[in-house]
Order: sequence, then structure tokens, then C-alpha cells
Amino acid sequence: KKVTFILAAAGQGKRMNLDSPKQFLDYKGEPLFYSSLKIAFENKNIDDIIIVTNKENLNFMVKYCQNKNLMSKVKYIVEGGSERQYSIYNAIKKIESTDIVIIQDAARPFLKGKYIKESIKVLNDDCDGAIIGVKCKDTVKIIDENGIVLETPNRDSLILTHTPQTFKFEILKKAHQMAEEKNILATDDASLVEMISGKIKFINGDYDNIKITVQEDLKFLK
Ligand code: CTP
Ligand code: MG
Repeated sequence: KKVTFILAAAGQGKRMNLDSPKQFLDYKGEPLFYSSLKIAFENKNIDDIIIVTNKENLNFMVKYCQNKNLMSKVKYIVEGGSERQYSIYNAIKKIESTDIVIIQDAARPFLKGKYIKESIKVLNDDCDGAIIGVKCKDTVKIIDENGIVLETPNRDSLILTHTPQTFKFEILKKAHQMAEEKNILATDDASLVEMISGKIKFINGDYDNIKITVQEDLKFLK
């Protein structure tokens, strides 16, 4: 089975309030995105890599990957869109043929090989997609615009989603095409596949597979 890995590195990192996007922060002497890119590059299950990044950083990204000798696996480095979903779709549109697509946030540096292995394995069953996540530790409440609690969903059926998110290529492509046609914007790829009745399986990951999102998360890089 052919496996294509998409690295989402085209965000602006508005919630971080830094001068440059968080995926370029220094982490162990390399830009943050390299952490999951390296895992993907070295993973024997992954055949191709597509990187999506900001227009301002396209040249840097190309040079960086050339210098690091990653171009044997990095097939495309493409410009992202204004929303994460559009960035992913730009990458999907570059794929001529593949069987499985793995999508990873560049801002999530603690990717593990076991996530990739288990996700691909789950797709061999009748599942269309696999998402890494964790069980909710806290109780979740649904509130209205005034902060008044409306509902408390049962915690046992609540999970928090991380990346990687892994899908059969054809259904992922169909889901993004559907979203474009119907003008739907979602915060993860799985929800688009769910909308066209795809079956997605949750895989229990690790609580430390965090996304660098706000200033407080910087301590996890120390
Ligand atoms: N991302 C992307 N294209 C976008 C927006 C986000 O490729 N238009 C990527 C980010 O680079 C990041 C991942 O998607 O690796 C997760 O998104 P998020 O944490 O929301 O990052 P940002 O959008 O950069 O941050 P913010 O929402 O705070 O602006
Ligand atoms: Mg964002």
C-alpha cells in the first residue's frame, strides 16, 4: 500500500503572538516542524511527503529540505490556504495516486512511529479513517454565550483529537471536494469524512502529544 504523509505547516500562529509562525520556532537546534518531518522521513511505511507552508516561507522550506537531503521523499512543497482545511486540500490536489494519506500538524512535535503503524493497521479493517486522540480528563460542559451551562455530556464518550489523522485516499479526497462544493469549513479532516458517512476509528494516543498553540505550551519544548 502506498502511503502519503501531509505536513500542515502553513498557519500563522495567531494565538502564540510571536514574530514568526510557531512551526519555525527553534526546538533542539532545528525548526519545530522538523520534529515530525524527521519521523515521517525515517518511517519505512511512508512513501511520499507533501509539505504545505506559508507563501513567505516556501523558499526557506525548499532550501531547508534540500540541505537536509529530504527531497528523495518530499515530493511537493506547496503553498497553504487561509484556513487549515484549505491548506490540506491544496496538498491533496497534488496527489496523483496513493492508497493512504496521513495528516500531521507541524505544530505537534511529539509524533511517534507507533501512531503511524497503528493507524495504518486500523485501515486494513473496514475503517475509512483513524484518529489519534486521548480520553477527556476533565468534565466537559456546553455553555451559552453568557457562560450559563446548558449541558454536561457523558465524559466516557468524549475524546480530544490530536494528529496524525489517517485516511483512505479516495474517501478523504471526496470529503474535501464535498466541503468545497457545500462551503463547509471544519477544524479537522475526520469531521469532513464523517459528513460523507466515513467510518473513523479512535486510537488512544498520549496526553503529551500536544500541539504548541499558546505561550504556555512553550514550556513543553524545554
Ligand atoms: N495550518 C495550516 N494552514 C492554515 C492554518 C493552520 O497548515 N491555514 C497548520 C498549522 O501550521 C499547524 C496546524 O495546522 O501546524 C494546526 O493549526 P493551529 O494550531 O490552529 O495553527 P495556526 O493556525 O498556525 O495557529 P492559530 O490558529 O493560533 O493562528
Ligand atoms: Mg489555526
